[in-house]
Amino acid sequence: MADLRNAPIGVFDSGVGGLTILNEMLRELPDERFVYYGDTGNCPYGVRPTSEIQELSRNAARFLLERGAKVIVVACNTASVSALANLRETFTVPFVGVVPAIKPAATLTHSGHVGIAATEASAHGDYLRQLIADHANGVTVHAVGCPQLVLLAEKGVLGGPEAETAIRDYVDPMLALGIDVLVLGCTHFPAMRDAFVRVVGSEVAVIDSGAAIARQTRRVLAERGWLSGEGNVASEPRAITTADSLWCSGDIHQFARVAEAILGMSVEVRGAPEMVSPTRA
Ligand code: DGL
Repeated sequence: MADLRNAPIGVFDSGVGGLTILNEMLRELPDERFVYYGDTGNCPYGVRPTSEIQELSRNAARFLLERGAKVIVVACNTASVSALANLRETFTVPFVGVVPAIKPAATLTHSGHVGIAATEASAHGDYLRQLIADHANGVTVHAVGCPQLVLLAEKGVLGGPEAETAIRDYVDPMLALGIDVLVLGCTHFPAMRDAFVRVVGSEVAVIDSGAAIARQTRRVLAERGWLSGEGNVASEPRAITTADSLWCSGDIHQFARVAEAILGMSVEVRGAPEMVSPTRA
């Protein structure tokens, strides 16, 4: 078997959201190199039909494989829900998907009511229904699609009155139903965590699965003997270096500006060659 220890980890999302997962991996797997692809030219995914999300996800996976990815982290709940099985059928590379933190939420709740802020596709998909049936028995889960928040995050509106007003519109009805845990079920939303916390207040726990996904990626690599270097864990995310590369299919300056806000460091972004947009059936 080829020695893939020094090959990069591929990561993709419809846009900047997956950077919240990359940030966790820069801490959990600092010895690894990363190649990140944000499909900003086709964002948002969450309002598209499944067949389109699958086609875009296959394009993204191909792009990362062409850059030598040894594993692909689908750092997007929507693509994980709609396309993970299809990706695994299509390619032999291992994939790590993002699963909303339903299980920890079910353990944490006292009121028995949990909220999930997600995309339309994730909030209403069979996958979420199954996850709730498997892991949240006896708990009432209120899932809301929040497409406006994805657009705000892509614009770099991660906090402040505009973000908080939009969050309040989605979250207030769930608060009125008595939720005491709010799951951020879209990878864009941890970038707006402070705004979420200000809206829901200190009595509601706000959780996501970023750290768990980073640990799962470590497990997938360790099982295959593909961890790079010493396989260290750092206390803080390491800096992006020239060994890593960030790509997007839309405006690179806009992406770089938001990426810098999310990662808290300066980054260089490259433009991915024009991806074929899916044809609507
Ligand atoms: N970041 C994505 C997710 O986790 C999707 C946002 C979108 O493209 O709708 O679902």
